[in-house]
Amino acid sequence: MPYPEDLDRWREACHIAAGAREVGARSAVPGARRIDVAEAVESYIRSHGAEPSFPTNLSRNVEAAHYTPSPDDTERLVAGDLLKVDVGAHLDGAIADTAVTVEVGGGRDHERLRKAAADAVEAGIAAVRPEGPVDEISRAIESAIHRHGFKPVANLTGHSIERYLLHAGISIPNVHGMSPEVLHEGQVVAIEPFATNGAGAIVEGAFGNIFRFRRDPGAGDPAVAGLFSRFRTLPFTLRWVAPPLRPHLLKARRHLQVYPVFVERGGGLVAQAEHTVLVGPRGAEVLTRTA
Ligand code: CO
Repeated sequence: MPYPEDLDRWREACHIAAGAREVGARSAVPGARRIDVAEAVESYIRSHGAEPSFPTNLSRNVEAAHYTPSPDDTERLVAGDLLKVDVGAHLDGAIADTAVTVEVGGGRDHERLRKAAADAVEAGIAAVRPEGPVDEISRAIESAIHRHGFKPVANLTGHSIERYLLHAGISIPNVHGMSPEVLHEGQVVAIEPFATNGAGAIVEGAFGNIFRFRRDPGAGDPAVAGLFSRFRTLPFTLRWVAPPLRPHLLKARRHLQVYPVFVERGGGLVAQAEHTVLVGPRGAEVLTRTA
């Protein structure tokens, strides 16, 4: 697998995403509206010359992933919320994906769970090597989470990333024994463990506010064609679509994938940590580290 041609763009997108993740973490204070946190993250990305590669995910407590605020969302964060700030940026399809979990208000009630996810992502990163089995990464993640007395979420995974493709075909499971794949030098992958004090799996909850074009919808409706040329096959949300265009999009539903919010099956709390890494000659180079 060759390195991406435009590796500098990937590095830059990852640098911007890391900064945006920190903006999200700092904005997530008690009383803040989730929509304001999402918009702070996305404005940071745009003001640095990139585009969000997916809507900012601000999943809370038992929500593991795929919650992004709707255009009319008024809900506010409260102290003690366990908030996953999962952000993505891209430059011409060179995609970054990174996440951190914060306890809103800065308390330490969920510190062990946060630490389990944070240690697991580092253990996974340390297990990356060229031509190395994905299963070694999965084992490292799983045992780091078990050491803290929690369960990995077995049906959420990390993933390889390619230009304009956030989930490009290789999954990086958070439990062992699931993957026969090996990683190759030059690949870009997101490693993203989820730790929980619940059942260790997610179920699909309500349909959320995240959409993706499955395919080119064609030129039939120029408004929809315009949206496809803007978002391509990357996830997007109604907040990014001008109000007059929203009905057009709903009519084009057959071309769209709509993502449900993922909720912990046993009602457990969920913490997540994620970095985008490059498989280098000696192991992982973390591209979304803050300096
Ligand atoms: Co990801």
